[in-house]
Amino acid sequence: FRIRLREDKMKIGFGNDHTGVELKKILMEHLTEKGYECVNYGNDDPNDRTDDYPVPGRKVAEAIMKGEVDQGVLICGTGVGISLSANKVPGIRACACSEPYTAMMTKRHNNANIIAMGSRVVGTEMAKMIVDAFFDAEFEGGRHQRRIDMITQIEKDYQGK
Ligand code: RB5
Repeated sequence: FRIRLREDKMKIGFGNDHTGVELKKILMEHLTEKGYECVNYGNDDPNDRTDDYPVPGRKVAEAIMKGEVDQGVLICGTGVGISLSANKVPGIRACACSEPYTAMMTKRHNNANIIAMGSRVVGTEMAKMIVDAFFDAEFEGGRHQRRIDMITQIEKDYQGK
């Protein structure tokens, strides 16, 4: 007879600055309910202004590259500063977006491994639609892989410079 192994849950790392404390909690609950394992690398105190967005952006990016988690969700005021920070880590493709179409397409075509959004831009229901669109989508490979390889080549060309 065959032993059925429990399928491993996808692990999602969360990072946020002081602007994203509430939205982060809501999205972690939402994705936990959907069966994902959520790991918190972000700030939990809205009055703590020391945890500027490059800190959680980098933490989640490094956690992905070390294999601690599979993918990430990042939140700052706009989603921009935190995604820019994460994108400095080689191998990271973080997309800041404010609607589900881009979230879906950045997985399908760019194989993004982080979705970022702005707590001051999107409402909670839109944010849930964004993460759902991102995690429900699958990378299409093919011609899109060639383009991702070109991004990786840019990283390589600048390594050590
Ligand atoms: C903090 O006020 C804000 O600058 C930050 O959360 C983010 O929006 C930066 O991109």
